[in-house]
Amino acid sequence: MTRRKKIYEGKAKILYEGPEPGTLIQYFKDDTTAFDATKKAILEGKGVINNRISEFVMTKLAGIGVQNHFIRRLNLREQLIREVEIIPLEVVCRNIAAGSISTRLGIPEGTPLPRSIIEFFYKKDELHDPMVTEEHITAFNWAATQEIDDILAMTLRVNDFLTGMFSAVGITLVDFKIEYGRLYEGDFSRVILADEISPDSCRLWDSTTNEKLDKDRFRRDLGNVIESYTEVARRLGIMKEMPTVIQGGITGDTP
Ligand code: TMP
Ligand code: ASP
Repeated sequence: MTRRKKIYEGKAKILYEGPEPGTLIQYFKDDTTAFDATKKAILEGKGVINNRISEFVMTKLAGIGVQNHFIRRLNLREQLIREVEIIPLEVVCRNIAAGSISTRLGIPEGTPLPRSIIEFFYKKDELHDPMVTEEHITAFNWAATQEIDDILAMTLRVNDFLTGMFSAVGITLVDFKIEYGRLYEGDFSRVILADEISPDSCRLWDSTTNEKLDKDRFRRDLGNVIESYTEVARRLGIMKEMPTVIQGGITGDTP
């Protein structure tokens, strides 16, 4: 295999130069971190599952007109994506109180919110991704007012679609985090969905038992992390071959 140029390495993914200008290859690692990477583990097979789940979700979202960076999956761990200029915001959408909103506002976990709430966090590890408002975002030029409006509208569409998609397979979408990027076309740019959508970036609870099927299993040491991610994939009707893949050794995947 020829050596490819690494463009960026994050905690859970690596971006390599793509085959054509304007494209990148997004590689999903098994590395798992929480609490600003103070807690770390390698969960064998996680990257393979998240690659597939993100492919599935991004493809469905494109189908309802939510433009995103996904082009096609290349192999077990890699997907071809459009290169965008990442907007340095984590956009969190919540339907039910959990995690940081529960702590911050004293709302018991599991309390349905009066309506879906969108929050912005500034992507800056050194500062522990602080929550920011539209005032900060526009004042510091992280995004323009029109871009924020587009982000809010797209995030609500993503939320509506994902809520229905998961609910159909017995999963409650508690909250999720997404990221956006700018795609340049001549003098213009538009905001499209980027990054990933997977159990690493969503809270997903079994609708009947409220059992957690997401990264909180890792954050809170609940065990069975991979089993839960696999269950999400299974319910969505993807990765039927997963058990064989695991037994066959996921590390041996080649492009
Ligand atoms: P929070 O309750 O910790 O603010 O998390 C809200 C949602 O965002 C939850 O689904 C987990 C996800 N998330 C990430 O994807 N990355 C992060 O770094 C954090 C803090 C949360
Ligand atoms: N991924 C983040 C980190 O490593 C936090 C999280 O998802 O909880 O710090």
